[in-house]
Amino acid sequence: MSERNHQENNQVIELLNQDLYGEHDAILYYLTHAWTVARQYGHQILEIANDEMRHFKWLGHTIAQLGGTPNLATPEVSPVADLTAAMKKDVEAEIHAIDQYQRHVEAIPLDPVKALLERIVVDERDHLRQFQELLNQSHGEPVHSEQPAQETAKIAQTLQQTIHVEYQQMMAYLLKSFMEDHKDQMGMDMEERSIDEMRHLGWIGKRMGLIGLTPKFPDLDTQSIADGEQTETSLYHEMRTWALQAMPSLIPTIDRIVAQEQYHTQT
Ligand SMILES: [Fe+2]
Ligand SMILES: [Fe+2]
Ligand SMILES: [Fe+2]
Repeated sequence: MSERNHQENNQVIELLNQDLYGEHDAILYYLTHAWTVARQYGHQILEIANDEMRHFKWLGHTIAQLGGTPNLATPEVSPVADLTAAMKKDVEAEIHAIDQYQRHVEAIPLDPVKALLERIVVDERDHLRQFQELLNQSHGEPVHSEQPAQETAKIAQTLQQTIHVEYQQMMAYLLKSFMEDHKDQMGMDMEERSIDEMRHLGWIGKRMGLIGLTPKFPDLDTQSIADGEQTETSLYHEMRTWALQAMPSLIPTIDRIVAQEQYHTQT
């Protein structure tokens, strides 16, 4: 790579790391809101957070592919008082994200990266619409759901057709992913393990929200991230002893987590 290209590449990596950090920030905020003050919309917000996690993954892969290191510094989550404050914050986050992605699409010269960012913005626009709707609801404005005046056979047939095509295409990409992207992979890859941990985080986070606590995320950065497999296992064993008396309803969750961790430490 020439000196100029190298420099250009580093600039792209830097911009993508800003986007990655933004996704990370959105994920932590949305999860915290879904577990705590916005529990009544938890399902919908978690679905949005899931989109952000996919964005995070695509950006992380792209940064690594360009020869960079993903910046994994933990964004700080400031607490919010109530549902309305949370939805306001999330609306602002989406506006900010859309604006930043648009600037980066302009600034980045690589077409596949431009296309990826434009693909991400499609989701962010819809997130903005959803959070604005939730904000209105939290202000007491009713939402009207759309009912087709008459359910014609035509509507049913077209909708059913899209189900068919979407399902078929989903399986086609999945098969390609098995046969091409992951052909050298056996069992759960590190990304899948990370998703296990994310779900553990969610089970405990929701439990904290239920009893009025707000989870705090540790202040990490890419350098300080260490493997804590052993600590994790012993922590849950300790917790189990304590929970038997203090919170027996937590035991099945703890047992499930411990059993899942066993696979991580064995392979
Ligand atoms: Fe996103
Ligand atoms: Fe978003
Ligand atoms: Fe875990």
